[in-house]
Amino acid sequence: MNTTSRERFQSTLARSKKIAVLTGAGVSAESGIPTFRGAGGLWRRYEATSLASPEAWQRDPGLVWEFYNHRRERALGCSPNPAHRALVRLEDRFRDAGGAFTLITQNIDGLHERAGSRNVVRLHGSLWQVRCLSCARVTENREVPITPAFAGSGSPDPEAGDRRFTAAELPRCPCGGVLRPHVVWFGEPLDAGDIAAATAAVEGCDLLIVVGTSAVVYPAAGFVPMAKRQGARIAEVNVEPSAVTGLCDFVFTGSAGEILPSLLDVAPARA
Ligand code: OAD
Repeated sequence: MNTTSRERFQSTLARSKKIAVLTGAGVSAESGIPTFRGAGGLWRRYEATSLASPEAWQRDPGLVWEFYNHRRERALGCSPNPAHRALVRLEDRFRDAGGAFTLITQNIDGLHERAGSRNVVRLHGSLWQVRCLSCARVTENREVPITPAFAGSGSPDPEAGDRRFTAAELPRCPCGGVLRPHVVWFGEPLDAGDIAAATAAVEGCDLLIVVGTSAVVYPAAGFVPMAKRQGARIAEVNVEPSAVTGLCDFVFTGSAGEILPSLLDVAPARA
C-alpha cells in the first residue's frame, strides 16, 4: 500500500464529519460468500445474475427459491469478517464524535447488521425477508430450508440436475399467497425510501468509501458520480479496478479484510 496516499486518506477521514460507505459483494468475499461476477459467480450452470431476475421467477420459481435457499444456507454458515467489523468501529467512533455515518450496501446477506452496523441502507433488500405476492406483506424469515421440500436441495455442482418444485412446495404466506425473496431483482425498481436515504447520505458527505463492488449496477453505482459532483472525496478498496476507479481520489488495492482494519483506525475530529 502506498504510505503517502494512506496518510492523506487518513487525514481526510479524520477531518470528515459526514461519511458514506458503499459496499458490494467483495466485502463479504472473505466470509466465504461468492461474489456475483468473476470466479464464483456461477451456481450450478447458471450465472447468479441471471437467476436474480423476474424472468427467471416467471420461468421457474422453484429453481429461483432453490438458488436463494442455497444462498441462505451458505450465509448462515458464514460470519462477519474483519472488513465488516472495521466498518462497525468506524461508525461507532464517528457517531460518538457527533458525525454522521451511513452504510449503503448492495449486499443482501445481513453480515453488516450481524457485525453490528447500525445505520444501514439495504439497497437490494434482504435474504432474510420474504414478500407475499398476494397481500404484499413483508416478513422476517430465517427458515433454512425455506420449506421442508427444499431440504438437501441447492447443490451448486454443475452436474446436479434441476429438480422441478411444484406450486404446493413453494413457501406460502398465512393468506395463502406465494412468498418470494424480498430482494430487488434486475429490472425491478429499488424501494423509494431506500433511494431517498442513500441519496441524503451521499449528498453533502465529505467522504465516500467504496468497498468491494464492481460498480456496474445502477442506481447503486450512480452514488459515486453523485458524491463526486458535489465535491466529496472518494476512496476505493478493491482487489482490482472497478468501473468507478477513475473517479476516486484514493485507491487501495487488496482485500477489504486486510486493508480496512488498519486503514480506518483513525480518531475523528470532535464535531
Ligand atoms: P460483483 O460481484 O459485481 O463485484 C464484486 C467486487 O468485489 C469486484 O469488484 C471484486 O474485484 C471485488 N472483490 C472481490 N473480493 C474482494 C475482497 N476480498 N476485497 C475487496 N474487494 C473484493 O458484486 P457487486 O458489485 O456487489 O444485485 O454487484 C452489484 C449487484 O449486482 C449485486 O448487489 C447484485 C448483482 O447482480 C442484484 O441482485 C440486484
